[in-house]
Amino acid sequence: MNTKKIFVKSYGCQMNVYDSNRIKDLFFEEGYVITNDIKDANLIVLNTCHIREKAAEKVYSDIGRIKKINKKKSKDDYKLVVAGCVAQAEGVEIQKRAPVVDFVVGPQAYHKLPNMIKNEDISINDDFLQNEKFNHLVYNSSNSVSEFVSIQEGCNKFCTFCVVPYTRGAEFSRSVEDIQKEILKYKEKGIQEIILLGQNVNAYHGIGADGKTKDLAYLINKVSELDTIKRIRYMTSHPIDMSDSLIQVHGTNKKLMPFLHLPIQSGSDNVIKKMNRKHTVKQYLNIIEKLKLSRPDIALSSDFIVGFPGETDKDFEETMKFVEEVKYVIAYSFMFSPRPGTPAFKLKDIDKKIKKARLSALQSLLKQQQAEFNKSFIDKEMDILFEKIGRYKNQYIGRTIYNQSVFTKHKENLINKFKKGIIIKSTDFALECQV
Ligand code: SAM
Ligand code: SF4
Ligand code: F3S
Repeated sequence: MNTKKIFVKSYGCQMNVYDSNRIKDLFFEEGYVITNDIKDANLIVLNTCHIREKAAEKVYSDIGRIKKINKKKSKDDYKLVVAGCVAQAEGVEIQKRAPVVDFVVGPQAYHKLPNMIKNEDISINDDFLQNEKFNHLVYNSSNSVSEFVSIQEGCNKFCTFCVVPYTRGAEFSRSVEDIQKEILKYKEKGIQEIILLGQNVNAYHGIGADGKTKDLAYLINKVSELDTIKRIRYMTSHPIDMSDSLIQVHGTNKKLMPFLHLPIQSGSDNVIKKMNRKHTVKQYLNIIEKLKLSRPDIALSSDFIVGFPGETDKDFEETMKFVEEVKYVIAYSFMFSPRPGTPAFKLKDIDKKIKKARLSALQSLLKQQQAEFNKSFIDKEMDILFEKIGRYKNQYIGRTIYNQSVFTKHKENLINKFKKGIIIKSTDFALECQV
């Protein structure tokens, strides 16, 4: 009998990538092998993202493409699954719009997928089963250097633009023991970097071995007790959950990297309020000040949405001024995309030309800041953990403590090695070093 092959595509955030890794692991246990060639696959899983309209629509064009590729195959030869946040948001509508889809499964129910496929009894599961999901997952390592670990699911913040509380459900923190068990498996495989994930990861409040609730600072210290884990990162954090204990850990735990992704979305209090982010620009700046006292070299990144309904020229100028003041080392920016089911969907959308102009102005400022930050390391020595091979012969790509991408050429295999490298060149997005 031929071995069955599974193809999984991720469309979304790091949590979505983590879920894709778990889906591959679940089917590996069922005897499947992983293929990167969609034409070869007996099982195709599209692990989707609903955050912006473009991401959500992409899945339908991919389904059309898959239908074409497989037009000579019978439906017994391959099964098509839509998983992830579009699956949760659209449910049965997906099969109505694209009958070629065999199964639909949400982000908190994908552990049920192997049985759904074996039994062919139900074709959709969009239950919120975050309480049981982690007990049924399989944790093989997806690579050899750095692993994502979801420690918290869902979100209770209900920012007015965002679909996540509806697609991933209510906030749920895994227990410390459960997380440790997963990380131990990666440690045994030689993984040296752990990236703790959650949509509000700094609101983590899992149960510890003593039955008491533990925070993220505690968890970071616990993970850092594992001698071969050398680097710890966490994302994404919400400003209102940036506790003093977490800020302190940045100064005391040497394995915690001096890099923090702390989205503010806008530099205007008016807009932040309309987004229901529950803090002000001043409060955010106070957090940064405290972080710098704790870890003076901390590098910051953020997310921004431009053209939120009601954003005036003055509001946008405030965002630009704010960015000039903070100086991010990297930041992601998006045009507001009205999402069905969210409160901001009903508000009057801003003219697309204005949104585009604002996005382009903000992105050129952010790019300039990133380039300046990268340039400041020329001729300096940095610690680099190498992760993967590059496009060219003998080329290796790694990361600095500030999460910058660094490449070099070397005869020796550098993967999963720490090296000190002298930075010889910088571009807007990466560094080149000599080891
Ligand atoms: N939980 C994180 C937070 O609170 O910042 C990130 C949530 S989301 C996965 C990642 C980013 O997508 C957000 O920070 C926001 O900038 C952007 N985003 C979310 N909804 C959006 C929308 N409707 N339109 C445009 N960008 C959006
Ligand atoms: Fe979305 Fe806000 Fe939750 Fe982040 S905190 S996932 S932006 S609702
Ligand atoms: Fe997208 Fe869902 Fe992540 S909507 S950004 S895949 S939580």
